Amino acid sequence: MIEESNIEQATEALSELGSPQAAVILGSGLSEVLSLPESRVLAFHDVPGFPRPSVAGHTGQVEVGEFNGMTLLVQRGRVHYYEGYTLPEVVLPVRAYARLGVRTLIITNASGGISPGLSPGDLVLIKDHINMLGNNPLRGPNLEALGPRFPDMSYAYDPALLRKAMDSARSLGIPLTEGVYVATMGPSYETPAEIKAFAQLGADLVGMSTVPEVVAARHAGLSVLGISCVTNYAAGVSAQPLSHEEVMETTKRKGAELGRLLTEIVKRMAQEA
Ligand code: HPA
Repeated sequence: MIEESNIEQATEALSELGSPQAAVILGSGLSEVLSLPESRVLAFHDVPGFPRPSVAGHTGQVEVGEFNGMTLLVQRGRVHYYEGYTLPEVVLPVRAYARLGVRTLIITNASGGISPGLSPGDLVLIKDHINMLGNNPLRGPNLEALGPRFPDMSYAYDPALLRKAMDSARSLGIPLTEGVYVATMGPSYETPAEIKAFAQLGADLVGMSTVPEVVAARHAGLSVLGISCVTNYAAGVSAQPLSHEEVMETTKRKGAELGRLLTEIVKRMAQEA
């Protein structure tokens, strides 16, 4: 069971890195899209209570450094519910960032494209989400020091940040659309029937992450921006079977563009801070 003391211990360890104003979570295959010129680094396994990513490729690390006029925290790698962690374990890092003083969370992920207009390689701003995890990270005793028992989710994805991200993309000539993200537990990909059902529910994108962190971030009062890289057609949208290799190949191909977009967004955020 995660308690306030676990979050405080993690926060205390992270405070060695500095006092970040914003955090960027870089997900599957995207962990290297942003580099901080000078930073202090801690591995997940050196932060008490932090979960250890089990997906091959990245063991997880947290960096803090100055970036375009802002003190930024960058999390490389993340854990997912399907790895076997509880949702309070999955969201412990986000809660520690909130306690550390972070006010804005930028979260990235890889997703399957459900809606007809989407193709692998598209970048999409998450404008809302549907939680199909069958669980919520806030289940259990409320951590009063972090936020209220029944947090509002009407503006889970901050409208002003959505506008800023759109303006950034426009100025760089990067195509960007908006969509609704549905989170499934995984680790199996969805069936074509499930994807059809999610389309009817209003979902444009499907993935296995992000929603727990966003719920925890909103609980703690953070503003959130979510950016998804469509890595494949969702099951049944095309005849092609899904593979993790395709997901990784697409994130590799689109990483540089996402990095440029994130850089411009942070620059604009710093101008207002
Ligand atoms: N489904 C679920 N998660 C994903 C997908 C998908 O099609 N693509 C990348 N992550």
